[in-house]
Amino acid sequence: MTDSKSNYTQEWRMAAYLEAEWSDFLFGSSKIDDTSFDPLISHVYPSFYQEIARLTKQWLGEKEILPQKYLDVGGSTGRTMYEIYHCLSSLNELVLVEPSSKFCEWSRKLLLKSDDLVSIPVVCTPQKPDYAKSLNRPNPLQESQSKLICIYEAFAESVPRPKEYFDLITCLNVLDRHPNPKSLIQILHDLLTSSGMLVFASPMDFDDIYTPDRSQWVSNLNSLFEDKLWNTVADTNVFYDFRYSNRQFTRFSSQVIAKQKK
Ligand SMILES: C[S@@+](CC[C@H](N)C(=O)[O-])C[C@H]1O[C@@H](n2cnc3c(N)ncnc32)[C@H](O)[C@@H]1O
Repeated sequence: MTDSKSNYTQEWRMAAYLEAEWSDFLFGSSKIDDTSFDPLISHVYPSFYQEIARLTKQWLGEKEILPQKYLDVGGSTGRTMYEIYHCLSSLNELVLVEPSSKFCEWSRKLLLKSDDLVSIPVVCTPQKPDYAKSLNRPNPLQESQSKLICIYEAFAESVPRPKEYFDLITCLNVLDRHPNPKSLIQILHDLLTSSGMLVFASPMDFDDIYTPDRSQWVSNLNSLFEDKLWNTVADTNVFYDFRYSNRQFTRFSSQVIAKQKK
């Protein structure tokens, strides 16, 4: 577990995540035009998070669920929570858990504060990110007595809430960074209410560093969810763009599923 903490503290990785999640605000980037991407001034666009929020709203509507308590597991720098906050007005408590202290620091800066962002790491080479002042920033989420927003430096294993507490949980692209995928699903099952919904995604880009037990590497997320415990609400795929360095991109295709408890 300590590995997954330290792996998310390097500055080049911070640069890559800030770009993947917030490039539209920080750099004013627009949707990628595949024919003319200038690696020195262009950025990947965070459409993954907008699409996840749109799908989540649609699936909740189809099941007539009005969620109040929301959890994002492995929330990195906060873009999923930002999109869900803006999409679902029924929420009165939004909780993000993320084991990396650096990611938590950035999610607090981006989601809860209004300060100018003067020194943001920008994708350059893995050895040396650049630093820049942001062009713009997201407006902070509005906290109130009827809308609590909590960001915890914590693993999924230690979410500071009781069992069966959340009626919406997202856990996106965390599975293949977890040492024990089956136990992660069990933890999410414990945290979800009986009428709630889990939105779960992964590109299944498994690696021995994160998941040494290869018997847990799967190629379809449904194989991790026991039929006797879960119903499938939806099953689709969404692109997730990531830029490791100025000339190295990966376009993942995340399988995105929605599940309810039986
Ligand atoms: C590939 S990133 C995905 C981040 C974000 N959810 C997204 O979709 O862009 C994986 C994230 O999972 C987090 N993570 C790793 N192990 C975790 C665990 N046991 N519990 C919660 N989060 C974890 C990492 O710190 C990292 O932020």
